[in-house]
Amino acid sequence: MSISVDDRFLDSASAADELAEDARTGLAGTPKSLPPRWFYDARGSELFEQITELPEYYPTRTEAQILRAHADDIAAAAPVETVIELGSGSSTKTQLLLDAWQRAGTLRRIITVDVSASALADAAVGLSARYPAATVLPIRADFTRHLDGLAKSGRTAVVFLGSTIGNLDPAERAAFFGGVRSALDPGDVLLLGTDLVKPAEILVPAYDDAAGVTAAFNLNVLHVLNRELDGDLPVEAFEHRAVWNPVAERIEMRLRATREIRARLSRIGMPVHFDAGEELLTEISSKFRRDGITAELASAGLRLTHWWTDPAKLFALSLSH
Ligand code: AVJ
Repeated sequence: MSISVDDRFLDSASAADELAEDARTGLAGTPKSLPPRWFYDARGSELFEQITELPEYYPTRTEAQILRAHADDIAAAAPVETVIELGSGSSTKTQLLLDAWQRAGTLRRIITVDVSASALADAAVGLSARYPAATVLPIRADFTRHLDGLAKSGRTAVVFLGSTIGNLDPAERAAFFGGVRSALDPGDVLLLGTDLVKPAEILVPAYDDAAGVTAAFNLNVLHVLNRELDGDLPVEAFEHRAVWNPVAERIEMRLRATREIRARLSRIGMPVHFDAGEELLTEISSKFRRDGITAELASAGLRLTHWWTDPAKLFALSLSH
């Protein structure tokens, strides 16, 4: 069986245009940067799945641990009919939650939203088999922009796991929470996964693992640029870096040119120059504190009502409305 992915918000042609635009702006200035969504082609999504199983990468298994302990509490606090999962990827952790909503008997529809068509398509078949009482609607979209267009009905939980919120800077988070706030009706909730601030000795290895999977994931964005924009960036001339920024309280993933590079993105006629040692910022992964996230939500008009964490307080799930 197959379920078709709704790509009216984001299809392959518009994604290619958006990548072109992001490359034009992000690779021209200093410092250079690219939005992290471009990691997730089929290979990048697969590498991310591998990251989630690394010994150093605690977020996924810790969030799953919290979900295993509290999924029924969450389902009881929010007896919803529609679940919208943003940045759903492979949806494995979400099953812990969906199982609880299915046990509670309220679940009627599951809307999965991701920029990766392949991840959506792979997950949708499994979800519809596991939740026969629910309709599964996979939608290819960018969660920062297309929230209000999603066809929700009945009480709804917007579920945003994995601390993907950490990819946004404070201004982008304010805009995102504002968008969620205006999409929620009375009785609806936001369930948010946030990675918490902790010592750099734990954080840095999580983003620079011994097996080199995160390095391959980071470097994959150069393959995406080369393939989609007909480029000739020499991938072997870049190295992966993961840096803890203690002021902004975020991990910064960067790609550093190990020599001077003169390359070209032919599809958009763009020369790309790196000085030796110059870095490209490919991702921020912000870490949170309870007070800070409570205040950010409150600024957007959202009230945090529940906070669940693991015994070591590595990660937290919160419920707001
Ligand atoms: C999927 C954005 C939550 O920031 O931890 C993992 C992505 N990057 N290793 C994260 C990621 C490098 C991940 N998020």
